[in-house]
This record gives sequence, C-alpha cells and structure tokens, in this order.
Amino acid sequence: MKTRSILLNERPKGLPTESTFKFTEEELPELQDGQVLLKAFYISVDPYMRGRMSDAKSYVPPYKLHEPIMGGIVAEVTESRNSKLPKGSVVLGNLPWQTYSISDGRGLTPVDPNIAPLSYYLGILGMPGLTAYCGLLFIGDPKPGETVVVSGAAGAVGTVVGQIAKIKGCRVIGIAGSDDKINYLKEELGFDEAINYKSTSDMRGALSAACPDGVDVYFDNVGGEISDAVYSLLNNFARIAVCGQISLYNATSQPMGPRVEPILLKTKSLMKGFIVSDYADRFGEAAAGLAGWIQEGKLKYEETIAEGFDQLPHAFLGLFSGENIGKQLVKVAGYSGS
Ligand SMILES: NC(=O)c1ccc[n+]([C@@H]2O[C@H](COP(=O)([O-])OP(=O)(O)OC[C@H]3O[C@@H](n4cnc5c(N)ncnc54)[C@H](OP(=O)(O)O)[C@@H]3O)[C@@H](O)[C@H]2O)c1
Repeated sequence: MKTRSILLNERPKGLPTESTFKFTEEELPELQDGQVLLKAFYISVDPYMRGRMSDAKSYVPPYKLHEPIMGGIVAEVTESRNSKLPKGSVVLGNLPWQTYSISDGRGLTPVDPNIAPLSYYLGILGMPGLTAYCGLLFIGDPKPGETVVVSGAAGAVGTVVGQIAKIKGCRVIGIAGSDDKINYLKEELGFDEAINYKSTSDMRGALSAACPDGVDVYFDNVGGEISDAVYSLLNNFARIAVCGQISLYNATSQPMGPRVEPILLKTKSLMKGFIVSDYADRFGEAAAGLAGWIQEGKLKYEETIAEGFDQLPHAFLGLFSGENIGKQLVKVAGYSGS
C-alpha cells in the first residue's frame, strides 16, 4: 500500500511558507500483529501546530524535522490485525499527515458516524469545542447580564465561545478580521456587536462603544494589540481566559505592550492561561453539554473544508490570514456512511 505524507521540511522563521512542507510518497510495510491500517478522511489544521514547528520548549514536544506533521485526524480502519479495532471502525487520533498510516491502536478513540458528521469530531465535538466550553465556563464563569468579549470570534473556538455566552444570557461582542465575518457573527450567530479589527483604526473606542457597561469576561484567542484594547475596559472582578495568542505565533522578536498588571490589580481581575487537556476530567460533561445544545438548535456550527490532501499546507497557512470561518479542515477522502 502506497501512502502520501507531508513532512516538516524546515523550521520556519516567522510565517511558515509552502517550503516549510515537503510531500513524499512511500510504500507502507505489512501490518504486524496488533496493528491497523488507517485511511484518513478529515485532517484538522490548528494554530497550535505553528508552535510545534519551532524547537522552543512548550507544553507539547516539537515536530521532528523531515518526519510527518502530526495532528487530529478522523480515519477508517481499512485492514486490521487488532481485535479491538475491526475493519470498518472509524477512529479519531493524533496521527501523521498521511493518506494512509499504520497504528498500533494506542490513543485512537472510536467515533460513531451515526451520532454526528465525522468532521464534527475535529471541531465542535472535538478539541476546539471542548476548549471553548471549558475555557469560557470554568475560567470565564459568565453570569447573565454580563459583557463577554471574544477575540478570534469567527474561528473554530470563538464561534462556540460567543454562542455559549449568549446561551448563558450575556451581552456578547466578537472581534474578527473581515466584514463577512462580522455580518456572520451578528446575523447568523446572534452576537450583540462585532468589530472588524482590520478596518477599525481605534479599537479601544470601538470596544468602548460596544461595551457601555465595561467587560466582565474576555476570552482571548489572539493576544497583542487587540487584547491591549480590551484590558483597558475591564470591570472589577473580570475574568480573562487566555486561550490563544495567534497574533504572536509568528513573531520573530519579543513583542512589547502596555503592562497589564496594574489593570489586573486595580480591577481585582483573574487572568488565567489554560490548555484544554487541563480539563480532561470534565470532557464528558462538556461533550454532553455541546451535543445537547446542538440537538436543541441553540448552537450553530460552521466549517471551512478544503478538498484534497494537497491542500493541507495552504489550509494551515490560511489560519494566519483568516481565510476560514468556523473550523478549518481538509477532506482527504469521502466516507460512504457519512
Ligand atoms: N488553549 C488551548 O488549549 C487551545 C485549544 C485550541 C485552540 N487554541 C487557540 O485558540 C485560538 C483559536 O484557535 P482556532 O482553532 O479556533 O483557530 P481559528 O480561530 O479557527 O483560526 C485562526 C483565526 O485567527 C485569526 N487570526 C490570524 N492571525 C491573526 C492576528 N494576527 N490577529 C488577530 N487574529 C488573527 C484569523 O481570523 P481573523 O480573520 O479574525 O483574523 C483566523 O481565522 C488560537 O490562538 C489557538 O492557538 C488554544
């Protein structure tokens, strides 16, 4: 069986480019006892992967040079020598960017194609959805009537954060990078206000107008100057969930900004960074909550799906120019049952 792979070709300095990636093709070996052959259906591209392309110390080890990039993939078992994963099972795993791969089954989670579309397991019912739920509810702790601001609002995490905040009875303001996204947030998802940071010259003024009662919860997906503008509007006892800092992931020098500590002190605010896996013991509750709201029609879900394995580098790079609305995925092969 031949497989196509995408390897990390070089460690990017600044924004990755097409030459960060290298396509190869090779013959896979015969399956050993305990192994399965996996055919990839959907491959997730996520901003955190940028961090793994560098060799700086982080909460996950860096990708190895000249080895396949790894990430969230939904795949089908097409051959099996593992009795726990029979042929035809569909699984979710952290797998190599390959059209076909071999696994010993460890770390694979079976998923049920009859419960939800397979792509949802990489989005709203997967890591991004759990991140939104846990970060907003367990750190942000939004109360009815409070003002919640979310940056990166039109992405995989942000769209879910804003909608949960609306379900909790909050006034919700989203920040995103195009007029289409702003319209989508307000018209489709019911955000109270949304601000296009790319066309707004005075972010603090725009936020101040959108948040007449100040900001009680800030769910930060982007960091940098957008966050600086939000901090100046924090209310007493505000909560800031630091989820992502995408505006800084490609920085080549140490970014400078106003110091936030005096604001945190004066407003007695809580600012907490988190990684979704910190809340693994609450994923059951979170997944049930998300699934329930989807079934009740309270939580809408958007995906941007690129077609074909060749599109992976482009889809990943598009995260940094904001090409996606909702969760960005790449569909590598079709699943006849979904
Ligand atoms: N802590 C955790 O466990 C955890 C888990 C998942 C994700 N995250 C983080 O959460 C954030 C969102 O992740 P996601 O998967 O939902 O991605 P996403 O929002 O679906 O995609 C990234 C979005 O970021 C925006 N963006 C890119 N460069 C930007 C910049 N310089 N300034 C402001 N916005 C920029 C773009 O939208 P615009 O058009 O609006 O610019 C783009 O669509 C990321 O920072 C990610 O690393 C953290």
